[in-house]
Amino acid sequence: MPPAVHPNFQKLKELYAQTPVILAPMEDVTDVVFRRLCRELGGDIGMTEFVNVEGLLRGCKNARRKIRLADDDQLTAIQIYGSDPERLAEAARFAAEAEPFFLDINCGCWVPKIAGRGAGAGWLRNPDAMVSMAKMVVSNVSLPVTVKTRIGYGPESDMPIVDLARRLEDAGVAAITIHCRTAQMGHSGAADWSWAQKAREVVSIPVIVNGDVKSAADAKRAIDETGCAGVMVGRRAIEHPWIFREAYGLLRGGSSVAPPTAEERIALCKRHLRANVEERGEPYGVRCTRRHLSGYLSGLHGAAMLRQKLNLEDSLEGCLAILDAWLERSAAAA
Ligand SMILES: Cc1cc2nc3c(=O)[nH]c(=O)nc-3n(C[C@H](O)[C@H](O)[C@H](O)COP(=O)(O)O)c2cc1C
Repeated sequence: MPPAVHPNFQKLKELYAQTPVILAPMEDVTDVVFRRLCRELGGDIGMTEFVNVEGLLRGCKNARRKIRLADDDQLTAIQIYGSDPERLAEAARFAAEAEPFFLDINCGCWVPKIAGRGAGAGWLRNPDAMVSMAKMVVSNVSLPVTVKTRIGYGPESDMPIVDLARRLEDAGVAAITIHCRTAQMGHSGAADWSWAQKAREVVSIPVIVNGDVKSAADAKRAIDETGCAGVMVGRRAIEHPWIFREAYGLLRGGSSVAPPTAEERIALCKRHLRANVEERGEPYGVRCTRRHLSGYLSGLHGAAMLRQKLNLEDSLEGCLAILDAWLERSAAAA
């Protein structure tokens, strides 16, 4: 009898047929706390930040923490990275025990200390090796395996991504996310979604378009222009996680969703602070929420002053008092 196909293949297929808006993996951002907040705002499919396979296999505490999934992380994938196919396959087997929704291989990180050593986007320098590596990982786990990559390493005039997408599909990869920049571009320049469209045209597995989706309108435009199965949102979610409900409102409901109210913005600040302190304690939990607060407070009256006060406050109680005082002042003014 042939081995049973893992049920998550079917689940992935069904979810990816519904034009998903996926939370991008982001180091030091898409942890258990932030994934939950995004889920509550509609971003139910997400990924852990990338996890180094050597750290994972050596038992490094930090790497093991990153693959820890909560009960409500049902639609969360674990992303791994490394430069050695066998170690990637071994780490994939290990990560699969955490029962993620699927496993993703990072073939897109441009950072020189990672790509320069052949991991992340370094794989794009040798598409043959990348395809064999993907094949090896796929054959080592029963879960779906996806790949997140870029359009090329740079500065190719003809990007390898189209041929690569076809070959990754042949290798058994279940879906591909394309960050539509080259590795050499890092995060600069504009993402060219037309490459996602070209890759999508040659495969039957879902292709997810990524890069510069900053609003619901962008999400719709990216889908309309590329015909891709879904979009992935990174940086905009850090400052505006409401993008998930706004994008779904437009993509599925066909209408614009009202932006968050001031009260919602303050409530999210408080919720995120509390959850991070519960997870990490003080003052680290407060400090690592700061990168989000600035965006959450965007557009509020006196936002600059509010940010300044919060940036100087390391205690949870102090931050909550600052936010409550703003609410009181705003109610009094109304
Ligand atoms: C702070 C930060 C951390 C990131 N970490 C990862 C990562 O761990 N794995 C990965 O595949 N991409 C990572 N990325 C890239 C994003 O997933 C995404 O591909 C990129 O930001 C482009 O999408 P955007 O324009 O929506 O931000 C990171 C990006 C940022 C800004």
